[in-house]
Amino acid sequence: MELLKGKTAIITGASRGIGKAIAEAAASLGINLSLAARGEGPLEETAVEIANHYGVEVLPVSTDVTQFEDLENLVKKTQKQFGAIDILINNAGISSQYPFEKQPFEDFERLVHTNYLGYVRMIRLVINDMIKRKSGTIINMVSGSTLCDPLPRTFLVYSSLKVGLRAFSKGLFWEMRDHGIKITSILPGVTDTELTEKLDKITVDRSRLMTTEAIENAVKFALNVPANVCPLEISVINQQTPWTEPVIPYKQEHPDK
Ligand SMILES: NC(=O)c1ccc[n+]([C@@H]2O[C@H](COP(=O)([O-])OP(=O)(O)OC[C@H]3O[C@@H](n4cnc5c(N)ncnc54)[C@H](OP(=O)(O)O)[C@@H]3O)[C@@H](O)[C@H]2O)c1
Repeated sequence: MELLKGKTAIITGASRGIGKAIAEAAASLGINLSLAARGEGPLEETAVEIANHYGVEVLPVSTDVTQFEDLENLVKKTQKQFGAIDILINNAGISSQYPFEKQPFEDFERLVHTNYLGYVRMIRLVINDMIKRKSGTIINMVSGSTLCDPLPRTFLVYSSLKVGLRAFSKGLFWEMRDHGIKITSILPGVTDTELTEKLDKITVDRSRLMTTEAIENAVKFALNVPANVCPLEISVINQQTPWTEPVIPYKQEHPDK
């Protein structure tokens, strides 16, 4: 843990939900934070709350991960404030649930830019410095839905992009291994956040959803492994969510019925 004290992490999608929870987990290890999300108010509040509680330095940077200039700005501001970026946690994400034939075309773009391109671009922006320093940790928030085959119906675009992200992360690990860079995918099951609040049916019984606690622990684990170890993927699956059964969904009607 001492080794992590004073390191710097960028966390995207950090104003609420899983991102906020893992920002607190990182702060509890003494890591200084650069936090990103679009909504300035909640982001500022989160930054102040974490800085006051954990005594680390926290920089809120209003960022839309779909905008390349915003990502460049996030990296520049973080480097100016803290110097090197030791850890990148790509977490910002949106979900959407549609029978495919009804999914709006604009929704595809939103999903691609937020949940896939935003991640790849952020990594490309920080990786050369990590290569130079022969050290760095990148954590990508993937999804437990990538373990389902076939993918959960009505989530095809969301889940297939997460499958792509998972494949990209694994490949990148092998490409970056000799540079001393670690890449970890976290695959959360259905978690009680605003993201799942907006979805249909799945969240009908919120008492069955998991809290962010296990994901916080997964991030702490990923940050604390010995120097010569990289946890490639950590699945934190919800024991009680019906739709992650191999046949999906069970005991729940199709949202459109
Ligand atoms: N909750 C689950 O069950 C679950 C399961 C598997 C995987 N995940 C993944 O976990 C990640 C976090 O999800 P969550 O459940 O914590 O969602 P959430 O509660 O809705 O929080 C999403 C966060 O991302 C930010 N965000 C959204 N769009 C953004 C954009 N274009 N640019 C910058 N920030 C943006 C939001 O802030 P602003 O809206 O202010 O920008 C917020 O801070 C996502 O990648 C999601 O796919 C979640």
